[in-house]
Amino acid sequence: MMQPDDELCLCFHVTRRKVENHLRLNRVVRASQLAECYGAGTGCGWCRPFLIRLFEAAQAAAKANEPATADLPDAADYAHGRAAHVRSGGGVPPQGATPLPESPLPESQSQDPSRHADEDGSS
Ligand code: FES
Repeated sequence: MMQPDDELCLCFHVTRRKVENHLRLNRVVRASQLAECYGAGTGCGWCRPFLIRLFEAAQAAAKANEPATADLPDAADYAHGRAAHVRSGGGVPPQGATPLPESPLPESQSQDPSRHADEDGSS
């Protein structure tokens, strides 16, 4: 599970803790407003679904008057998922972003369901 000091937005070096504090201390009504937290989510786009997850957890916690809890992947799996996202054309990290890991994907993610067996070349 992602720890508080792990980077949630690897493009802009925004930790999980910064995002959770931002959600706690500011009146955030839309997940897209998390871009105001040091630019989180405005690079390659990989972290956006996870920002939404934290946002929704914070909303639910506020309603229930309980501390927010959200399950996020551990940092290594997360970084490899981002690498796959970027390498498949999902988005481009800005200059100065945390570099993509070079090691292969962990076994749990090594079977790529996006492989295309056939392509229609008609035009
Ligand atoms: S990891 Fe957040 S935009 Fe790339």
